[in-house]
Order: sequence, then structure tokens, then C-alpha cells
Amino acid sequence: MKPLGLKRVGFATALLIGGLSACHPTSAADSVDLEAANPVLPIPDPPLGIGGEKNPPATLLDLEDPPTPETVRLGRWLFFDKRLSADNTVSCATCHRPENAFSEPTPVSQGIQGQKGGRKAPSFTNQAWATLPHFFWDGRAASLDEQAGGPMINPIEMGQKDHDGVVAKISEIKGYAKYFEESFGSPEVTIERITKAIADYERTRMSGNSAWDRYMAGDKSALSEDAQKGRTLFFGNGFCNNCHKGPNLTDSDFHNLGVGWDAETETFADEGRYAVTKDEKDKGAFKTPSIRDVSKRAPYMHDGSMKTLEEVVRFYSKGGTPNPYLDRKIDRRFAEQLDFTDAQVHQLVEFMKSLDGEGYQDTAPAAFPQ
Ligand code: HEC
Ligand code: HEC
Repeated sequence: MKPLGLKRVGFATALLIGGLSACHPTSAADSVDLEAANPVLPIPDPPLGIGGEKNPPATLLDLEDPPTPETVRLGRWLFFDKRLSADNTVSCATCHRPENAFSEPTPVSQGIQGQKGGRKAPSFTNQAWATLPHFFWDGRAASLDEQAGGPMINPIEMGQKDHDGVVAKISEIKGYAKYFEESFGSPEVTIERITKAIADYERTRMSGNSAWDRYMAGDKSALSEDAQKGRTLFFGNGFCNNCHKGPNLTDSDFHNLGVGWDAETETFADEGRYAVTKDEKDKGAFKTPSIRDVSKRAPYMHDGSMKTLEEVVRFYSKGGTPNPYLDRKIDRRFAEQLDFTDAQVHQLVEFMKSLDGEGYQDTAPAAFPQ
């Protein structure tokens, strides 16, 4: 967009806001900053390794209800806006931090008034390519849009009483009206519009063009010798791709590795998928995370109980934690215990580090609608 165009629109908005809300005086300069802080941008193409004709959707524009540049801009504001929470202290980005590939550097999440949950915030890059419609560690949401409504009314995350409360609060921020209008054709704020905009922003957080992607595209120098050996193990005798498969290195399905099993009481600290299906076999099963950008997301697992990638590989090396519900995909192959050598542990870790990608990085917009 031309700077001149920006300035003109900004000035008009400034007058409008100034007229509507005397307690938020806004100058033309503020408004220019507002839109410059979060410009309308074309929908990005997927980076190398993601999308393309062989791996539909080829681009985000091929989705059934594709994001638009306007919904993504609105969603970006909402994603980083702490006013979505009951006491204005927590935004989605409080727990899903761009610098941690939209996960967080702590074992479990901390929401409003410092309340801690029992699970770690997972990443959500490349979600448009999820092979099964499972969201959350236990898959209790069936779409990204449905998912986005959850945290706002979770008492220990963003703490709003209900979605009407969220809608009322965002409606009171007069500066948002213009951006709901440009996204949806009218200024009305609804929970469906809020979640669609946020989910569209999330969909544009794609990660690719990692050293592994470049290697697979033919640049044999992209991976170190150790990373290449790790790759062979990962897709071969290490059996990692029983579950971490496809371009996003996840089957979007649920498996019990025994994380959180207490051998003494013979119970799980968290029953995982079982809470959703009430099917015995799902006890202690969690969704396979993508391991793109995994080096940015320590500590690991749904409860953040493993500090390093090395610790994770050593855990697999002994076949997970024995328990009556251990997944057959780890049980059968790992029964003899893989017993990786120290060198192999290192190689697998080096391979996983080569999955650091680009395309998702972002920072909070410097200004928000008032
Ligand atoms: C207080 C921390 C916190 C806040 C705030 C928060 N989340 Fe989360 N998020 C989590 C945790 C923890 C999970 C995993 C919960 C579970 O699986 O039960 C999660 C799961 C998710 C997932 C599922 C990813 C997947 O692979 O299944 C998405 C997407 C997501 N959050 C988006 C959002 C959005 C959008 C917002 C803002 C409206 C938000 N989160 C606010 C902590 C948070
Ligand atoms: C049976 C399916 C399965 C196999 C085989 C498997 N994984 Fe996993 N992986 C999972 C699941 C499920 C989780 C999450 C478990 C949890 O949190 O309770 C996970 C978690 C991880 C994590 C932590 C990611 C994060 O964001 O916390 C890493 C790293 C990982 N696996 C690497 C590997 C490697 C390396 C191998 C091969 C040695 C492997 N996996 C084999 C299913 C599997």
C-alpha cells in the first residue's frame, strides 16, 4: 500500500474515532502508525517444503474458506491484544510466543492472575495441513476456529465469563469497527468473526525452508553429516516416522508413550484423549506434535516434563514408559529397546535441529485499535 493512501485513510479514521470517543483522543499521526504497524499484506505463499501441488492445499488460497489479507490483519491484532482477557493481562501470544515457534519456554501455561494449567501450549504452525481435524493435545476441538474460542472463556487462561462478554468488550473498542467492516462487510463484532480472524492469522503462520527442506529439494550440503545420519535413523531404524510423518512430521493422531504415568498409583496425571472418547485404549494418549522448529520449544511433551531433545531421544531409546496402554506403534517396534548409542542420540538431535524453519516469525504490532 502506498504511504499516501495510508495517511488519507488514517486521517479519516482519526476524525471518526475522535468524534465517537472523547476519552481516546487520537491524532492523525496515531492512526497512520496504527495501520503502518499492521498493514494489509498479500496472503503469503507456503515456504519450501509446505503445500505445493503434491501436498494440498497448494496454497492457503485453495482452502475452502480462505483467509483474506483483511481477516489476517484483524486476526493479528486480536491475537496480540491483551484486552481479549478479563483483566487485560493475557493475550494469545502470552502463551503462544512467536520466538518459541508459538509455543512457550515453560513446562505448563500460566494464565490470568498467574494461574497454572496442567499442559504446555503447543505450537500451531502449518495447521492448514493438519491431516486430521484434531486440535488440542486431546483433540477436543475439530477446527482451528472452534479452538480459538476456547481459551477466551477458560477460567485459568483468559478468564472471560462467556463469549458474549468477549464480544461486548471488543465492541466497546470503537477503533476495531472499521477492521471488522473491511474484513466481513459490516462493523458488527461476533464471536464467529473474532475466531475466524484469529484462525486466519494462525493459518498464515507457516514454517518451511528449513535445512531439511533444502536438502530434500536437492541441496545436499544443507545438512551436516551428523544430521544426515540422524535423518536416516529418524525415517529408518529409529521408527520415528511411525508417528512423525508427512511434510509437517505429525500424523495428527493420538498415541500413548507413557508420559505422565505414575507406576506407584498406576494412574496418569492427565488422561489425555480418554477424556474426550471415554475409550479405555485412549488413556494417556496425546496428539503427536509436529517437530518442525522443535529446538525453539523446550521443555518437551504435553506436560513439559523433558528438558532437552537429548532427554527425549533417550526416553524413546528405552521404549517409552511401560504402562498397560502403551501405543502399539512404539510397543511393537521399541519392545527390544532401541538402545541408541551416544553418537546416534547426537545424530537424531542434530537432525531435529535442522527442522528450524522460516515463514512464521512475527512480533506484536506496535499499535492497536483504540
Ligand atoms: C494461558 C495460556 C494460553 C493462552 C492465553 C492461550 N492458549 Fe492456546 N493453548 C494453551 C495450552 C496449554 C494449550 C493446550 C491445551 C490442551 O491441549 O488442552 C493450547 C492449545 C492451543 C491450540 C491447539 C494447537 C494444536 O496443535 O492442537 C491453538 C491453535 C491455540 N491454543 C490457540 C490459541 C489462541 C488463538 C489463543 C487466544 C484466543 C490462545 N491459544 C490463548 C495455552 C494458552
Ligand atoms: C508411537 C508414536 C510415536 C513415535 C514412534 C515417536 N513419537 Fe515422538 N511423539 C509422539 C507423541 C504422541 C508425542 C507427545 C507425547 C506427550 O506429550 O505425551 C511425541 C513427542 C515428541 C517430541 C516432543 C515435541 C514437543 O513439542 O514437545 C519429540 C522431540 C519427539 N516426539 C521426537 C521423536 C523421535 C526422535 C522419535 C524416534 C526416536 C519419535 N518421536 C517417535 C509420538 C511418537
